[in-house]
Amino acid sequence: MTQEIAVLSAKPDMAVESPPVRKVFVKTYGCQMNVYDSDRMTDALAKDGYVSTDVMEDADLVLLNTCHIREKAAEKVYSALGRLRDLKKKKAGEGREMMIGVAGCVAQAEGDEILRRAPAVDLVIGPQTYHRLPEALKRVKRGERVLETDYAIEDKFEHLPAPDKAKTRARGVTAFLTVQEGCDKFCTFCVVPYTRGSEVSRPVAQIVAEAQKLVDAGVREITLLGQNVNAWHGVGADGEQWGLGELLNRLTRIEGLARLRYTTSHPRDMDDSLINAHRDLPQLMPYLHLPIQSGSNRILKAMNRRHTTAEYIALIARIKAARPDLALSGDFIVGFPGETDEDFEDTLRLVETVGYAQAFSFKYSTRPGTPGAELGDQVPEDVKAKRLERLQALLLEQQNAFAQACIGKTIDLLLEKPGRMPGQLIGRSPWLQSVNVDAKSSQIGDIVSVRITGAGPNSLFAEVVS
Ligand code: SAH
Ligand code: SF4
Ligand code: F3S
Repeated sequence: MTQEIAVLSAKPDMAVESPPVRKVFVKTYGCQMNVYDSDRMTDALAKDGYVSTDVMEDADLVLLNTCHIREKAAEKVYSALGRLRDLKKKKAGEGREMMIGVAGCVAQAEGDEILRRAPAVDLVIGPQTYHRLPEALKRVKRGERVLETDYAIEDKFEHLPAPDKAKTRARGVTAFLTVQEGCDKFCTFCVVPYTRGSEVSRPVAQIVAEAQKLVDAGVREITLLGQNVNAWHGVGADGEQWGLGELLNRLTRIEGLARLRYTTSHPRDMDDSLINAHRDLPQLMPYLHLPIQSGSNRILKAMNRRHTTAEYIALIARIKAARPDLALSGDFIVGFPGETDEDFEDTLRLVETVGYAQAFSFKYSTRPGTPGAELGDQVPEDVKAKRLERLQALLLEQQNAFAQACIGKTIDLLLEKPGRMPGQLIGRSPWLQSVNVDAKSSQIGDIVSVRITGAGPNSLFAEVVS
């Protein structure tokens, strides 16, 4: 077989058959795990001749990689599908075919309901079966409307291509790497255990190989991802059970990998080895996203978070003792069923006590199928809105105070991409802030020492110190 190919390709007049160029437009909603998945899907399609386009109208295939976390997120998908239906019709009138696929958590949660509600959709594919995407598209080409939402028995990561060098370069000097998927925590408000399934950890060797590939392509910073990333565990090269702390340790041995981060963590899974990693590994950035959701023990219990505010505060004290310059970010939900004014005041108090460099906060959104949806005592929308406004004002105040406190400091900056002004680059501080600095584009990927000179609403300003 090999010989045959050699003979054939030796003939100068025989063109090597390559698939026709087709264009895919991927729209990503939701969390970083979807960003990672969208890239993997694009990579999987590349071998069938698909190239990415930023222009939806040019696409032969439009893929929506969706999020189901709140009602609004899911609604967005159906309005996007309405617009796509019209585009598909218009293109068909011009004799051009356009396939529409829905991937991600809405695909997993709603499955054939999408095919029923949106007749223009050709394919619905859940996050556990992305490696079957090329095959599924072939079925669409044969005229089928495809639903792929079973939990695959095979390991999808073994079948999904790792990012290649050219694509990784184009994506920049920072990269995501999913190490863990799914969640067994079953917080009563959350759809993730239903859309992403139960917890699965990728094996050490697979992760190390992918990280090495990224670094070989010029990546300087890797963020390990998981719905519950610090629940990651696996058998290490030494035959021992490893947790995320040991995995981070192993990854620091990759030469050229300057920075590591991980997200999102659950407070209950912050073990000693992970805390020690914050103490021992200079590559591990001093920034931790550690959501608590509420500052009321009563509500934490109703949410099934399975820890108290005192335990959370004590945990943070331990991590900060290990890494004193650590800054925190968090997630909050206001208006969980039964949340009283006092419960909400407890949340404000907790935020005052902890002090966040950044945080995300949301009104509770009832998700069908979760235990929270069955609870009485739902909080009225206007009450939720008022609470959210107060919480966000406090969190913004803290974020600004954190940025102001950076002024005058000299920090390491990873130069990532061109800035808005010519001669300017944007870099990331250790605490994930965007920082504008005058630098040459040839310096992208370098880590430079800068002094912070000012703070705007969403970014900092700095000058390089020699
Ligand atoms: N695994 C992470 C969270 C993933 S979802 C953790 O354990 O914290 C991201 C955030 O969305 C959550 O932290 C929560 O603040 C928010 N969220 C999840 N379900 C929600 C809902 N039903 N309504 C409002 N916000 C929600
Ligand atoms: Fe959802 Fe809770 Fe799992 Fe986070 S830990 S993904 S909030 S169920
Ligand atoms: Fe959304 Fe699914 Fe992520 S519901 S937040 S895309 S895991």
